[in-house]
Amino acid sequence: MDAKFWLERWENSETGFHREDANASLRRFWPRLNLPPKSTVFVPLCGRSSDMPLLAQNGHKIIGVELSDIAIRMFFENQKLTADIRQQDGFDIWSAGPYELWVGDMFKLPSQLINNCSAVYDRASLVAFPREMQKDYSKLLAAHLAGQAQILLVSLSYDQTEMEGPPFSTPAERIEDLFQSSFDIEALDHAMTLEENENLKKRGLTSLTESCYLLKKR
Ligand SMILES: C[S@@+](CC[C@H](N)C(=O)[O-])C[C@H]1O[C@@H](n2cnc3c(N)ncnc32)[C@H](O)[C@@H]1O
Repeated sequence: MDAKFWLERWENSETGFHREDANASLRRFWPRLNLPPKSTVFVPLCGRSSDMPLLAQNGHKIIGVELSDIAIRMFFENQKLTADIRQQDGFDIWSAGPYELWVGDMFKLPSQLINNCSAVYDRASLVAFPREMQKDYSKLLAAHLAGQAQILLVSLSYDQTEMEGPPFSTPAERIEDLFQSSFDIEALDHAMTLEENENLKKRGLTSLTESCYLLKKR
């Protein structure tokens, strides 16, 4: 899953993963993190997610990272915000209001940026990566997040023989493999969501579970 794959998805408007409404698990479980309003939240692989405005409504500053400047431009247009753009560490950084969105590869972010975040919100981020890259992703979060940092993780699981990813299936055992060495993991919810994912049904899925986990860095 190289950068070209994702950049082409945005260029060709093949963004079936995008949702106009904020995620139900985010609405339901975000209060569990009990974060002070002004805390900074990291949103890896943010796309033009409708979840970021919900986090902003909770008083948070949002640091996002996304490969595609098309996604970021669309996000700010949609929010009716005019972003300032500056360059740093090889990224274009678009800022306006509570949002600071870095355009480029997550794996090249300065570590201090992640270290300064109190929480991470992941919806459709871990599952966007194939197996090997999932390990790089969890290692990066384990290495750079400060102790007590929390992750609200919304992931998907399904029979991987029915469909090629992305999204890739990440069942509970996989979440444990990836994160248990550095995080305490609490499963908050498992919901059957195939009916709300018409595009995945068309790709051959007969069952799909969306799970929500709260991870706490030790
Ligand atoms: C499945 S989408 C999810 C987007 C968003 N989280 C949402 O809920 O709509 C994955 C996104 O990650 C971006 N992406 C993939 N690899 C990336 C990387 N290494 N660094 C930054 N962004 C990346 C893609 O361009 C795409 O927009």
